[in-house]
Order: sequence, then structure tokens, then C-alpha cells
Amino acid sequence: MKTMEKLAVIPGEHNLKNYEETAANHDWQHSEKAFSWFETGKVNIAYEAIDRHATTHRKNKVALYYNDGNRKETYSFFDMKRHSNKAANVLKERAELKKGDRVFIFMPRTPELYFSLIGALKIGAIVGPLFEAFMEGAVYDRLMDSEATVIITTPALLSRVPLEKLPHLKTVFVVGENIEETDKILDFNKYFAEASQDFDIEWVDKEDGSILHYTSGSTGAPKGVLQVHYAMVQQYQTAQWVLDLKEDDIYWCTADPGWVTGTAYGIFGPWLNGVTNVVVGGRFSPQAWYGAIEEYGVTVWYSAPTAFRMLMGAGPNIIGKYNLSTLRHVLSVGEPLNPEVVKWGLEILNHRIHDTWWMTETGGHMICNYPSMEIKPGSMGKPVPGIYATIVDDQGNEVPPYTMGNLAIKKGWPAMMRQIWGNPERYESYFLKGEWYVSGDSAFMDEEGYFWFQGRVDDVIMTAGERVGPFEVESKLLEHPDVVEAGVIGKPDPVRGEIIKAFISLREGVEPSEVLEANIRDFVKIGLSAHSAPREIEFRDKLPKTRSGKIMRRVLKAWELDLPAGDLSTMEE
Ligand code: PRX
Repeated sequence: MKTMEKLAVIPGEHNLKNYEETAANHDWQHSEKAFSWFETGKVNIAYEAIDRHATTHRKNKVALYYNDGNRKETYSFFDMKRHSNKAANVLKERAELKKGDRVFIFMPRTPELYFSLIGALKIGAIVGPLFEAFMEGAVYDRLMDSEATVIITTPALLSRVPLEKLPHLKTVFVVGENIEETDKILDFNKYFAEASQDFDIEWVDKEDGSILHYTSGSTGAPKGVLQVHYAMVQQYQTAQWVLDLKEDDIYWCTADPGWVTGTAYGIFGPWLNGVTNVVVGGRFSPQAWYGAIEEYGVTVWYSAPTAFRMLMGAGPNIIGKYNLSTLRHVLSVGEPLNPEVVKWGLEILNHRIHDTWWMTETGGHMICNYPSMEIKPGSMGKPVPGIYATIVDDQGNEVPPYTMGNLAIKKGWPAMMRQIWGNPERYESYFLKGEWYVSGDSAFMDEEGYFWFQGRVDDVIMTAGERVGPFEVESKLLEHPDVVEAGVIGKPDPVRGEIIKAFISLREGVEPSEVLEANIRDFVKIGLSAHSAPREIEFRDKLPKTRSGKIMRRVLKAWELDLPAGDLSTMEE
């Protein structure tokens, strides 16, 4: 992979013209000038994302195209302002939601999710978006930990909200028809229809909380990562540099707002820039996805390797039926961008796929590939201007190029998490020497400053004194024609420390056999190295994955060692 040729710069006018020069000079205070609060002191991310456009030439510009195959709706920035005002009035008047209170939004992607998220922010409340597939235990953990007072949900999900077990929860809004109200359960649409379209935004401090995403660590219960309104500075600026968004773009981010990509770049990045945003609800299908690109004329598309692999799996005939000629910029996030996906991008989609690296805790892009920069396939790219990223050893000392270590960021970027909810010690534990945010990923940097992802620190395999990143082995396995999914772990071994074990699911119609096993092992040996080849291979029909598509090696390890698998709330069905 590392030897794959560099992909050339895309010709054209890009927002980030000269990476090196901008990286050498950028100061975030410069980006603040884009916002009216730079002069007025009146801060609120909801105002900057929606209301300010509603009084400009963008008033009637489309803010949201929504399509789930059933509902198909279009909202201008002015519509979004009025609808989020109504939602704010409902939350304030019917549930007494106030600045700083926690409100959860637990529903599938529908326009009401976006109205109420923006509306709650206008009150100054802290919004916890919950992915619709969460079950009761996961909902309980998050609402309990954050002492939330309000939740907005749908009839189908209501039974997963354990109202009687949550002492702080005062109001449950249900978005649907014929809602049976009680003293705590209220019919959202009824009050929404009556609510005023005017609302006085609550101005907040730049450092006040905005979004609370719960994310699982390698141990313990999920933790609440708090972002603040000031994150807007980075989300706005990176939407320009990394997503390369411009006035006339039609942008589609496929992530659900239950995950950080779905808020930072599914809501704020585009709307802070006044750009038209596409939301596709409903289930994934290649037809619906390619169809959405064609129907709306999507120009910038942000998705994830798993999704690209599913599209790949659907074959080149389907893609040929759609007109995808409007696309000009394609990006990926969340997991390593495997070589076979890069190849598919170049050969079938006809685009470089731009990898971006960041995490819930960083709140915005950190290390990325930009259209104006050469891509080294397999590398996550270079730090966003204004971000200082490096590799440190376990003591917090920076290490030379090509040395594998902890991927770390110098503390203090705009979108950085400001709290782990209710757990200041845990928060501090992320920062080494009070200076470096340590990501938990291992990586190395090359002599040109490109970063190369190796794996989570806790997943790195030491076998016979050799360090092996499971990602490299998995990538190689995925190139084998019979392999659909692969997860690789280190299995304790008395002689070698650990040996590499691969869990593999095979393409439909292919039967496991010893011959195939040997063939796959040789494939890795030849393609990568002898010490990277899995000594053990186990075939399974399906592998445990998170809903965002990451193979859960932790669960594989638990299967292997016969240990409890821990929190499975983020695992797909
Ligand atoms: O291990 C890295 C992986 O996803 C982790 C962060 O997960 P989450 O907080 O759910 O956020 C995902 C979307 C922002 C990281 O620690 N990860 C994220 N992006 C990449 C990646 N791994 C490899 N390459 C990436 N581009």
C-alpha cells in the first residue's frame, strides 16, 4: 500500500490553495472574524448556522433537501429559522427547558430532528443526539449520566425510554400521530403547530456546552464528550478547507447525527457556510444512495469506508445506471480507508477519495487530505492548518519520523471536547503532561509530514518481537477475492507473546476449507510479510461491528478468550 503511487492534485480553484503556506500562518482568531459575535459578542451556534442566512441573499436558498423514499421535503434557510423557532418555543414553554439543561433527541433522521436540535441550541440547552437503534439500556445510561430533563422521540422508540427509572426526566415529546398524552408524555406536533414562529435566541458564552455525544471507550460505560459553541470556528473553517464547500455546492454527509460526523459535518459544517445540505433517511441501498446523488446533483459527498465497500459489493453494473457526473469531491472518515476502496474510487467512481482523521473527542477534522494536495494512498494526510499533530512515546516525548507511537494533538483547538460529563479525572487522563491530547491511536509520520494510521493503541499486536497493526493485515485480507469482512486480533501465545488470529466472513457461495485457509494465509504472507500472516483463521458468517461499521476487535477477543464482551450497545443488530 505504501508503495502505491501518489495521487496527483486535482486541478481547479480550491478553498485551501496552498497547504504549506496556510499551515505555516493560520491562527484560529482569524477564522473568528467570519462570525458576527466577533463584533457583537452575541454567541450562539444555531444563529450562525441558520438565522443569519435567513436575512441575506440565502433567505430562500435550500438549506435542507430531505428524502427517505416516503417523505420528500425541501426547506429554505428561512423555513429552517421559523421551524427551529417553533421547536424552541415548544421546548421552552411546554417543558421549561433552560440554558444548560440536557435534552436528548432520539429519533430517525427526519426534518423534525433538525428543527428540534437547532431549536434546543437556540435555548442554550445541551443536546444529546441518540442513534435510533439504541435499546433501552443504552438510552438509560446516557440520560441517567447526564441527568437529562427532556427527550424527544417517536412512537416506535417510546418503549425504549424508561421514564419511570429516570428521576430527572420530566418531559417526553413524541413526534407522531394520535399521541396519547399523560402528564409527562406530550404530543410534539400538536404544540409545534400552535407555536409562534418568533423566538428570542438565548445568547451564550463561547465556552458554553452545545452538543453531548456519548462514545464508548475501551473500558467501562460510555462517556459523555461535551462540545461547546466555539467549536463552530473549526467546523466552519474545515468545511471550507477539507470539504471544500462553496456557495453552489450540494453537499451530502451520510452519517447520522447520533455520531459526531452527523452533527459536526452533517449539520454545522455545511450550514455555518450557508451550503445546501442533503439528508437521506431510511435504510441503505445502493439504488437509494446513487439515486440521491443523481436526483439532487450532489457535488460533495462525505461517507465512510464501510459504505463504500457495500457499494463496491453491489457491483459496477448498478453504478453505471446512475448519472453521478455532478460529484466533484468525495471524502471518507471513521476507519482506515483500505487500498481496495481507494482503487474502487479511482477506477469505478472516478474520484480520489479523501481520507479524514478525527474523533468524537476532537469535535472537528484533525488530519486530512485536501484537493490541492497530493495523496499518498493509505495515509490520512496532514494536519489541518492551526492543528499541531505529532507522534509521542508513552512519556509524551516527540519521536522521529517512521517511529510508531501515540498520535497526539497539542491541546487547545477550537472544537476540542471541554468535559467528560461528570468526570473531570477521566477528562484530565486524556492529556499527557497537560500538553498533549493522546488519541489512543497509533500511527507514524513520514519524512514529508504525512501521517499513517496503524491501529488503536490497545489493538497493536506484538508477535515474536514484531509490531503488527491489525489494520494492515485486515486490509490485505480484504483484498483476497473470497473475503468480505476480516477482523484481526492478537491471541496470547506462550512462545511468541501473541500470534495473529483472523476472523473472516466469506463471500456468499464460498465454503470454508483448509485449502482456502492456507490460500488466504499465503495471500497475506506474499502480499505483506510472513510475520503478518494469521497463524489462525476462523470463519464466521458475520463479524461483530459497530453501527458505524467498525469491526469490534474487542468482541472478537472476548470470543477468543471466553471473556465477557462488555458494552454492546453500539453493536449493529
Ligand atoms: O481509531 C480512529 C478511527 O475512529 C476513531 C474515532 O472514532 P469516533 O470517535 O467514533 O469518530 C469517528 C468519526 C470522526 C479514531 O480514534 N478513525 C477515525 N477516522 C479514521 C480512523 N481510523 C483510520 N482512518 C481514519 N481516517
